[in-house]
Amino acid sequence: MIKNICCIGAGYVGGPTMAIIAQKCPNIKVTVVDLNESRIQAWNDADVNNIPIYEPGLSEIVREARGRNLFFSTDVDKAIDEAEMIFISVNTPTKTYGIGKGMAADLKYIELCARQIARVSKSNKIVVEKSTLPVRTASAIKSILDHTGNGVQFQILSNPEFLAEGTAVEDLLAPDRVLIGGDSSQEGQKAINQLVNIYVNWVPNERILTTNVWSSELSKLTANAFLAQRVSSINAMSELCEKTGADVNEVAKAIGMDSRIGSKFLKSSVGFGGSCFQKDILNLVYIAKSYGLDEVADYWEQVIIMNDHQKRRFAKNIVKTLYNTVSEKKIAFLGWAFKKDTNDTRESAAIFVADDLLAEQAIIAVYDPKVKKEQIYIDLNYLETRSEQQNSKGLVVFDDPYEACKDVHAIAILTEWEEFKTYNWQNIYDQMQKPAFIFDGRNVLNKKELEEIGFVYQAIGS
Ligand code: UDX
Ligand code: ADP
Repeated sequence: MIKNICCIGAGYVGGPTMAIIAQKCPNIKVTVVDLNESRIQAWNDADVNNIPIYEPGLSEIVREARGRNLFFSTDVDKAIDEAEMIFISVNTPTKTYGIGKGMAADLKYIELCARQIARVSKSNKIVVEKSTLPVRTASAIKSILDHTGNGVQFQILSNPEFLAEGTAVEDLLAPDRVLIGGDSSQEGQKAINQLVNIYVNWVPNERILTTNVWSSELSKLTANAFLAQRVSSINAMSELCEKTGADVNEVAKAIGMDSRIGSKFLKSSVGFGGSCFQKDILNLVYIAKSYGLDEVADYWEQVIIMNDHQKRRFAKNIVKTLYNTVSEKKIAFLGWAFKKDTNDTRESAAIFVADDLLAEQAIIAVYDPKVKKEQIYIDLNYLETRSEQQNSKGLVVFDDPYEACKDVHAIAILTEWEEFKTYNWQNIYDQMQKPAFIFDGRNVLNKKELEEIGFVYQAIGS
């Protein structure tokens, strides 16, 4: 029985996943470690509302388990040394340099982890890949561990995480499936069973799927590629709907009732964001290309091309509708996160729409209920399209939505936060420049109600 777990990486995956394991397995000591001191400090903040990741229900779980059997620390070596099972949950961003730049996953953080595990370990360990990784990464990790270690035995498992941000706690508590890939040898099977024994504490047996390592790694990439493909498919239809007078919501409902298609993940939007979809598809494209499978690569790349187009055409449409110029015009952005119920902004459509509108000299007023002001500037500055001074002049962040919308020519909805539906839209209308436009990039507001007030309302796909 495993008694001591270490998780390297206290991010959006490692943090919530380990909190649930600790909650459900009070007899296992779970230590989450990270190099980022301020992140660990925030996880240890006396006020659980200050933990670095916003996820509905997460702070309550952290309150229950922290200090009992859940610990957050920067002492990576000590946690590795003590653990029988080590989860690797570090980030694997798209490479920004060298071979595979802009496509392949950057595995330098994973490799550093593997080398550290090899250096520190004095007893046999099970190493679990949690981060999404290209197929066959496990063999690279194994090679590092076996050749640089102190003669101790390592078993490598792939246990990809399927949680979606904003619903992480729900997804972890009641997963559709838990996938565990391992070696077919006796030791491999034993390691798989040890991980299965952790999950059976709350996941029904029939939902725990075991496979070989490569199937597990590829399944994760495939799941994300299929999900992203659905969004790009409905978004492709949204443009056609706008031209033909069809309504994308009606089309989505009609096709979703076909049980073979299903109703989920058919919401047209300004484009998908998040840390996974784009990265994983680019990764898939890169792998396919590296095996010479050009048609396979091109097929999946189209999902990204469509998504980029959707973000760009949203911005273009704003400019066109506002009489072909937004220069010096104020436009409010409601929402900056890549989806509701998260403070994560990675690859959020809002960043790219803002960038395009700033290029047209618009002035942008942003309000998001959970994203911090500093993060918004970090996101924009990261693009390096213009200087930091220019960005802070062109974009202003508000902590009150009514203030953000004051005097603006248009409002763009970039995230589907529920609270937007509850606003006093009459009040907002009264304080805006006329005609008052709303560009709903998430199909969240009520067209009829807003048009009755006097807004010119346009939603994606209708
Ligand atoms: C995704 C996968 O769902 C999850 O299984 C995996 O572990 C990580 O990647 P996440 O990125 O957190 O999760 O959120 P998800 O709900 O999948 O949304 C991704 C993006 O697609 C968001 O920007 C969302 O707004 C967009 N989306 C989703 C749509 O535009 N329309 C939809 O119908 C669904
Ligand atoms: P994800 O969404 O995959 O969880 P995040 O970026 O939120 O990604 O979290 C990954 C975390 O991993 C970061 O907090 C980062 O500091 C941490 N990390 C990266 N490399 C290492 C390492 N070698 N040792 C410890 N922590 C690391």
